[in-house]
Amino acid sequence: MYYSEEIIDEVRMKNDIVDVVSGYVKLQRRGGRYWGLCPFHNEKSPSFSVTQEKQMYHCFGCGAGGNVFTFLMNYENFSFPEAVKALADRAGVSLPEQEYSEEVKRRESRRARLFSVNKEAATYFYFLLRSPQGAVGYRYLQERELGDETMKKFGLGYAGKSGGDLVAYLRGKGFEDQLIKEAGLANFSERHGLLSQFWNRVMFPIQDINHRVIGFGGRVMGQGEPKYLNSPETPIFDKRRNLYGLNFARTARSGSIILCEGYMDVIAMHQAGFSQAVASLGTAFTSEQAALLRRYTDTVLLAYDSDGAGVKAALRGIGILRESGLNGRVIDMRPYKDPDEFMKNLGKEAFAERIEKAENSFFFEIRVLESDYDMSDPESKTKFHREIAKKLCDFTEDVERENYLQAVADKYHIGADNLRRLVLAVAASTGGARPLQRPRSGVQPKHSPEENAGKSQRLLLTWITDEPSLFSKIKPYISADDFTGELYRKVAERLFSDLEQGQFQPADIISMFEDESDQKEAAAIFHTSLPRLETRQEREKAFHDIVLSVKKNSYEHYTSRLGSDISALDQVIAGKKALEELAKTHISID
Ligand code: UTP
Ligand code: MN
Repeated sequence: MYYSEEIIDEVRMKNDIVDVVSGYVKLQRRGGRYWGLCPFHNEKSPSFSVTQEKQMYHCFGCGAGGNVFTFLMNYENFSFPEAVKALADRAGVSLPEQEYSEEVKRRESRRARLFSVNKEAATYFYFLLRSPQGAVGYRYLQERELGDETMKKFGLGYAGKSGGDLVAYLRGKGFEDQLIKEAGLANFSERHGLLSQFWNRVMFPIQDINHRVIGFGGRVMGQGEPKYLNSPETPIFDKRRNLYGLNFARTARSGSIILCEGYMDVIAMHQAGFSQAVASLGTAFTSEQAALLRRYTDTVLLAYDSDGAGVKAALRGIGILRESGLNGRVIDMRPYKDPDEFMKNLGKEAFAERIEKAENSFFFEIRVLESDYDMSDPESKTKFHREIAKKLCDFTEDVERENYLQAVADKYHIGADNLRRLVLAVAASTGGARPLQRPRSGVQPKHSPEENAGKSQRLLLTWITDEPSLFSKIKPYISADDFTGELYRKVAERLFSDLEQGQFQPADIISMFEDESDQKEAAAIFHTSLPRLETRQEREKAFHDIVLSVKKNSYEHYTSRLGSDISALDQVIAGKKALEELAKTHISID
């Protein structure tokens, strides 16, 4: 925690969430909540709700949620302390100067120093590009048809021919060698001391969604190797979790995001008005990046190179998007290699058309598959059809599979009935439709055991926050330790101890978490919908089932740890007793 809980609570209480959010989103009252168009994803009818009673917001469309702090963090790209500060100012609360623990201070100041050395380096490169020394870089970018505005927007720069200058500059600004090295800006050499990592390259500063410079990519002038040199991973540069251009693309609100391979592609697309373009950072697209994208869109258009490697990368990307519940479509760049080249030759209108026509990822996969087979050879053709059938088996939902089956049968002139029989045959030989998980939106349930356990834990917490009087009913059986998910356990600890004292405030519980994604997850606890049940009997049974499930999971969790964890024994013995009791106890819920 950066500030004491008391201060944070005070700041929160003095900033009513409805007031604060109303400053950004037009809200209308309906059925005990306020509703508006979600500022965190693109939508036409309001699914973004603010609850005054709970002092929280939640979007039923994209899953965004949290309290007044997280709202500002997301909307204004603030860090948590920055959000606290802004709201304190708004409400006239004066914040104490320093309330950091020593450890947090050290860690934070290290990160802050890394951000500032990067920022300073970016400034240096930026000015060098515009100086006589940088003329070669500037000319290069001009030849690539980038305008001054674009170069400025992306903070493009140039690293000089002699690598020592940057280091001297940074030292002059008071940064120590160790930090310059840790930021990946320079390396020690026995002979020459600290030498710049980048030289004679056009520099692309890489920013996180908060517009902070976290690393660099540098393109060589002329023919050197590697063509692009990137910063190494550092405590603030995690290549798996960031995307180039996302700081701008996140507010583009075009309904989809375009994912491409290169820095230059992103910049060229933004310059042409496609500001929804992002690129992964010189590494393959990751599931973490997909999760990041899902915060802003449900559809990702792949604009990968049209060569063999690009097609392979696209196929891989499609799989990742699918697993993350995102819709994938593929933009056809042929006959050009990448978006940059395409637009240079055919213009942005033609590119906009290709976006419109982006191919459904399933058909893309089938089309790629087709090129491996010879359609004039009956045997090869049959194999191709069998492969199609195999792919159709990946759809676990009947209606969806049937829709795709008809569409693909149509397109490839296969009798639908024949194809259906082929699907059945393939399914029979491989043991049914494959249990591939394809959640299509953030709200679809998942089914692994941990997820099920997590679900009951979340439901129980939700139920108790909805009906705090139930706390006393479960107290004999359930304690915070029964929540095996770390986040849920922390929430339970705080919630239960607050309830012991007779009151709790969901928004305060969310503030316990520093990390944005934790805050979001904690917020979800207060927004999970409870089973809608009519009769009291049904409700009691559902509640009993949830309590039992939480206890049972906890019992199994601690039992599995008996070998390695002595303290688990207590939990197991107590758990067994509680389970037996619970099995024969009726919990009344009023
Ligand atoms: P490409 O080689 O396709 O780049 O690499 P490009 O955009 O067409 O390059 P230009 O147009 O010749 O300048 C695409 C991306 O892969 C990463 C970079 O992020 C680049 O933008 N890459 C490429 C590297 O990290 N290192 C390399 O040596 C090459
Ligand atoms: Mn290119």
